[in-house]
Amino acid sequence: MTPGARARTQIVIVGAGPAGLLLGQLLHNEGIDAIILERRSADYVRGRIRAGVLEQGTVDVLARAGVATRLESEGLVHEGFEICFRGRRHRIPLKTLVGKTVTVYGQTEVTRDLMEARVACGAETIYEADDVELHDLDGSSPWVSYRHAGVAREIACDFIAGCDGHHGVSRRSIPADALKTQERIYPFGWLGVLADVPPPWHELIYANSERGFALASMRSPTRVRCYVQCALDDPIGNWSDARFWDEFRRRIGAGPGDQIGAPASIEKSVAALRSFVVEPMRYGGLFLAGDAAHIVPPTGAKGLNLAVSDVFYLHEALRDFYRERSQRPLDEYSARCLRRIRKAERFSWWMTRQLHHFPDDPQSARMQERALEHLFDSDVAQASLAENYVGLPLV
Ligand code: APR
Ligand code: PHB
Repeated sequence: MTPGARARTQIVIVGAGPAGLLLGQLLHNEGIDAIILERRSADYVRGRIRAGVLEQGTVDVLARAGVATRLESEGLVHEGFEICFRGRRHRIPLKTLVGKTVTVYGQTEVTRDLMEARVACGAETIYEADDVELHDLDGSSPWVSYRHAGVAREIACDFIAGCDGHHGVSRRSIPADALKTQERIYPFGWLGVLADVPPPWHELIYANSERGFALASMRSPTRVRCYVQCALDDPIGNWSDARFWDEFRRRIGAGPGDQIGAPASIEKSVAALRSFVVEPMRYGGLFLAGDAAHIVPPTGAKGLNLAVSDVFYLHEALRDFYRERSQRPLDEYSARCLRRIRKAERFSWWMTRQLHHFPDDPQSARMQERALEHLFDSDVAQASLAENYVGLPLV
């Protein structure tokens, strides 16, 4: 690209997380050109540790995009999960209740598959793009400026897809009075540990104990991913592996808690819990997708799945725009996404409410007991939980 000359493409995608990369692949398969601008290096993006439960709808979209070969051979299909309440485990048989399953396959692996597919199809991704700025969003031809290797560059386009996460530039580029936001920050976080040992549990276990929440998950037949609820002001330095596994055992209960032992952690990090939704998800020529528009607490395993449904709807809207030259699919994008996002927000809030220890709300424990007793006694309540956990079909 000659310095100073403004390049041109159909879609500029800001952010090479799962949302941006998947949108790039879906558009490429439709013959729509897109350039992805990513602030970080490819190695950094590839190495990020995130969640890993995929709804069937997400698996279908990844297959549709042509990036599900490894997922289909290495993903772990789960027909249920467990809730451990006060040391007693209750199985939620997803397949029996709603005829659907979820697949355990790390977001890190999804990102790797998408990055490889993008290189293989020769589509353009600019990593280490600094100072990305969006221009003329409410005009007829938006454009983006950025710096790469110290050189200022510009790209003109038809539309911009803001897939740059919660702290990205896209949402910030929309005038505040054009947006409505809803936010809830929870008074605790999740301390997560990754360890290379075979998981002694075959399905995920979500635990509500008097000492707080815990989650027994996995990444593969040889790698576990476990979490305990922690105070946000308790620095990670206070959490030795021994302390983590001792706390985990006390919460997850005997059996799996004893079998896991105290393996060395290969990754350990704290994530704050928050709910965040912004609307509308379109401002002129800019469309927000994924974490750029919404955050859910991880308790419902919806973060990645919502990002996938957003970009699936956005790729359909852009495909139909270029086919029919009608604005209608683009005008409907935001409402279509928000219907699904609100359902997932509510479900993630419910799961978080029922399974965590709320230090400043002693009453909540009694209400949790009522809600969970009702759940364990009622097939209808379990079916509703299962329906929300497996998610709505997409393709
Ligand atoms: N310029 C360019 N790239 C940016 C900028 C910027 N100003 N700001 C952020 N980015 C990049 C980030 O470096 C990151 O790679 O945008 C990408 C956003 O990716 P994610 O945060 O992973 O968001 P998204 O693709 O929407 O994926 C959502 O990630 O956090 C999980 O639970 C969440 O699973 C969900 C998924
Ligand atoms: C994970 O495996 O990291 C995971 C699984 C389920 C959740 C959250 C995280 O609800």
